[in-house]
Amino acid sequence: MCGIVGYTGPKQAAPILLEGLSKLEYRGYDSAGIAVRDKDKEPVILKAKGRLKMLAEKTNNGEAVPGNCGIGHTRWATHGEPSELNAHPHKSDDLCVVGVHNGIIESYIEIKEKLIRKGYSFQTQTDTETLIKYVDYYYKKYKMGPIDAIAKTMVRIRGSYAVALMFKDYPGEIYVARKESPMIIGVGEDESYIASDVPAILNYTRQVYYIDNMEMARLSGGEVTFYNLNGDVVEKELKEITWDAEAAEKGGYEHFMIKEIHEQPRAIKDTIGSLVNTDTKRINLESIGITEDEVKNINRIHVVACGSAYHAGVVGQYVMEDFARIPVRVELASEFRYRKPILCKGDLVIVVSQSGETADTLAALREAKSQGIKTLAIVNVVGSSIAREADNVFYTLAGPEIAVATTKAYSTQIVAFYLLAAEFGRIRTEITELQYQAYVNEILTIPAKVESILDDKEQMQRLAAILSAQDDIFFLGRGIDYAVCLEGSLKLKEISYIHSEAYAAGELKHGTISLIDKGTPVIAVLTQNSLYEKSVSNIVEVKSRGAYVCGVTYYGSYSLEGTVDQMTYIPKIDDHFAASLSVIPLQLISYYVSLARGLDVDKPRNLAKSVTVE
Ligand code: AGP
Repeated sequence: MCGIVGYTGPKQAAPILLEGLSKLEYRGYDSAGIAVRDKDKEPVILKAKGRLKMLAEKTNNGEAVPGNCGIGHTRWATHGEPSELNAHPHKSDDLCVVGVHNGIIESYIEIKEKLIRKGYSFQTQTDTETLIKYVDYYYKKYKMGPIDAIAKTMVRIRGSYAVALMFKDYPGEIYVARKESPMIIGVGEDESYIASDVPAILNYTRQVYYIDNMEMARLSGGEVTFYNLNGDVVEKELKEITWDAEAAEKGGYEHFMIKEIHEQPRAIKDTIGSLVNTDTKRINLESIGITEDEVKNINRIHVVACGSAYHAGVVGQYVMEDFARIPVRVELASEFRYRKPILCKGDLVIVVSQSGETADTLAALREAKSQGIKTLAIVNVVGSSIAREADNVFYTLAGPEIAVATTKAYSTQIVAFYLLAAEFGRIRTEITELQYQAYVNEILTIPAKVESILDDKEQMQRLAAILSAQDDIFFLGRGIDYAVCLEGSLKLKEISYIHSEAYAAGELKHGTISLIDKGTPVIAVLTQNSLYEKSVSNIVEVKSRGAYVCGVTYYGSYSLEGTVDQMTYIPKIDDHFAASLSVIPLQLISYYVSLARGLDVDKPRNLAKSVTVE
């Protein structure tokens, strides 16, 4: 959560900081601030509560703030309410150290007490002010350089952070440190940049360094030097970002979410193409580094993730168990990490994450690795912490996803599971060669079928108009349809603020059906042939209690016309892959409901795109 940018070089810093922050607003958007230095003058700190545009107005898009070196921050409040006072940058009282921070300093109360005893006072409720003043304390007490003062602080604090600091005595320089929160450093001609995520600097440079955990760096013009905690210089390789800058822009769409919904055929196609040779129609696991022998020796699979990535894992569980006959357990990373999971030789832990920075998922990955278990990450962001720490990586090729509500990343994650499932099934001879070919052929049809659903989205707009006035909406399904309902329900509540629950249809009569009343909206997904009649019975049950039922099923399956209130049809596909199609109407419904309620689709309240704190 929170976005950090920084710039030092020949250009005016503030407009670059503001532009960079605008690309990171998805990470947090309750307040923002910048600190900019004009040569060796003291830094000027400007902050504003609310969206970044408030700060942009205050500073004339940064034009009104002179200086060539600065840091900026867009905040998602953890410690202290969203306010101008709590907004970053924070400073030591004499402006000796000024800084921005992403993450949480867990030990901030004890540090604060210690610093109060040393004569420090605190103006804000943030953990960040404590961190800045702690650095200031060591810097002054031991008269040490910035790197030594930061290192001394880092070994004494607990928590996660990406921090950028400016020291009054070091004009034109920015110092950064990182532990578990994302940060990259970009380099241009005589200039350098810092950012929490790639889109913030894509307009200026594609040459980046990835700073590792427990490392620091000093930026001065185009010079970047990395240090470990002992203060030794660490050599790093410059990497090139291959993302297209346009991919991180709205490109004519009203919101990132609808743009990203429309990018799904391309994202799915690219992800399939990364593993499937379209001539031979065979899946090749070479690029993710898993051998056939390893696949044969897998005893159990644990899929661990959060939110929508977890829901993708639930779809993956059904398909992998069916194709490869390997027991799969799907678990929320926040539960897995603390329950002392029993992992055995022959287990494979698959972590799933769009950002590759989700704190709980990263911790779960580390837990598995600490037990010597092989790990595979299905991850979207190249070079992210999860991608770097997992033994094997399957990159989904969704491209940059900006809207807080994930769509294209989820779609590529489920496709990643299909490919693994089919290949694992073939290798373990749990599916025949003929079935394998049929499955690969079906997977290859997904992008065009998604496209055809997107071409026909008016119906979803009409339905959204009806649903937008509701207080509670239920999603019902069985098997893979239930897995999709979990995602549909999360999508809806996340951006429409309508209470919603997803239920395995067979569970309904064990309690929840008491909530069904005249007019209660129920969205039922029915794509699984073997479960169709069972689901129909559940629909009839809610219908007879007065529910307003909207069904999602295949074209050609018209038996529910007349029973339910609204039907949405999707193209026919092998049932195993139906989630890729049935989720599209659910995403569109959420989007249009949010729009109809006049909400901020891309930046829903209380949320941030990347959850780097637990
Ligand atoms: C879904 O729309 C979410 N915004 C959220 O549930 C997300 O999927 C979750 O936080 C996991 O994020 P990750 O994929 O970046 O790990």
